Amino acid sequence: MTVPFFSLSEQTKALRPELLAAMTDVLDTQGFANGPPVAKFEEELAKYLGVKHVVALNTGTTALQAALLGLGVGPGDDVVTVAHTWISTCWAISYVGARPVFADVDERTNGMDPRALERAMTSKTKAILPVHLHGHPVDLDALLEVANKKGVPVIEDTAQSIGSTYRGRQTGSFGKVNATSFYPSKNLGAAGEGGAIMTDDGAIAERVKRLRDHAQQGRHHHVELGFNWRMDGLQGAVLRVKLPHLDGWNERRRAIAARYLDGLKGAKGLRLFAEQPWAKCNWHVYPVFHDQRDALRAALERKGIATGVHYPTPVHLQPAYAHLGVAKGSLPVAERLAATEVSLPMFAELSDAAVDETIAAVRSACAEL
Ligand SMILES: Cc1ncc(COP(=O)(O)O)c(C=O)c1O
Repeated sequence: MTVPFFSLSEQTKALRPELLAAMTDVLDTQGFANGPPVAKFEEELAKYLGVKHVVALNTGTTALQAALLGLGVGPGDDVVTVAHTWISTCWAISYVGARPVFADVDERTNGMDPRALERAMTSKTKAILPVHLHGHPVDLDALLEVANKKGVPVIEDTAQSIGSTYRGRQTGSFGKVNATSFYPSKNLGAAGEGGAIMTDDGAIAERVKRLRDHAQQGRHHHVELGFNWRMDGLQGAVLRVKLPHLDGWNERRRAIAARYLDGLKGAKGLRLFAEQPWAKCNWHVYPVFHDQRDALRAALERKGIATGVHYPTPVHLQPAYAHLGVAKGSLPVAERLAATEVSLPMFAELSDAAVDETIAAVRSACAEL
């Protein structure tokens, strides 16, 4: 048996009639750019997340940039974030002309360590941008306490955590303005690119709506530098079909994660990542850690098990960010996680048999290393 790392085949097969009907409706009504399904999806997602406003955009990277602009972050400002993330988190900070400042991560969550945040903040810190990596929420109470003490707004990057909750409340409903992605492999994925910001602040939502449509206030009246950040009507239609299934898919991912955790206990040299008591994780990624990560991956590949790495090089060590001058060794937890992480196959349609096959392969590979 070979086990793929990720596949949308079964999901697409199951939803094909509904997806085709929704997409056909967009073709027939020509609601291609920010069409009617997008506005409906915004309402439905806002209700799901328990926020007042969702503004749909063309990508998650854009959504992060829009969130920063919405808060008025710009040149001369610092934004505290993490280096252990997909690089878009930092791109967005750079796009608005601000400087990313890195706080190290907490091994228990793989996300921003609130104590490191406190140490990283200065009078130039204009926003805090934590990432709920792998879908596991950061310790929001501790983080918001630091942020509120200094009066600095938080932007949650929920690209990986849609449907994950912190003490029973949805991630993406805590920060002043938050951003997510609907990249196809996300837990709620479009049939192409997509993203959104979420906020309770009506003025920020209005500004982002304006920015996404060339900063028009009324037709042909452009009040600031604008963008074409509109979501495709086709993506809105697809996301509307998929949203009602999100909780069910996430529950299945949780059952798979529980099976992995149980089956992998005691595997030689393997460190497991478990949910914190206050978290309900959507398990976007199922990470395990091993000092011989590359050898473990190679052994699994030989056994037919596909794996991933999230992410092998922390942002501060990427050539694109060499100019920040953040030396190797300065973010020890992020660097250790990046050097040792392996992501095991994870998607809602993965069978118990495939999970068991993966568990057996990991156990035997670990024993042989
Ligand atoms: C943590 C994180 N932030 C931001 C993004 C950017 O989203 P997108 O690919 O939709 O631009 C992603 C997804 O790729 C992500 O995983």
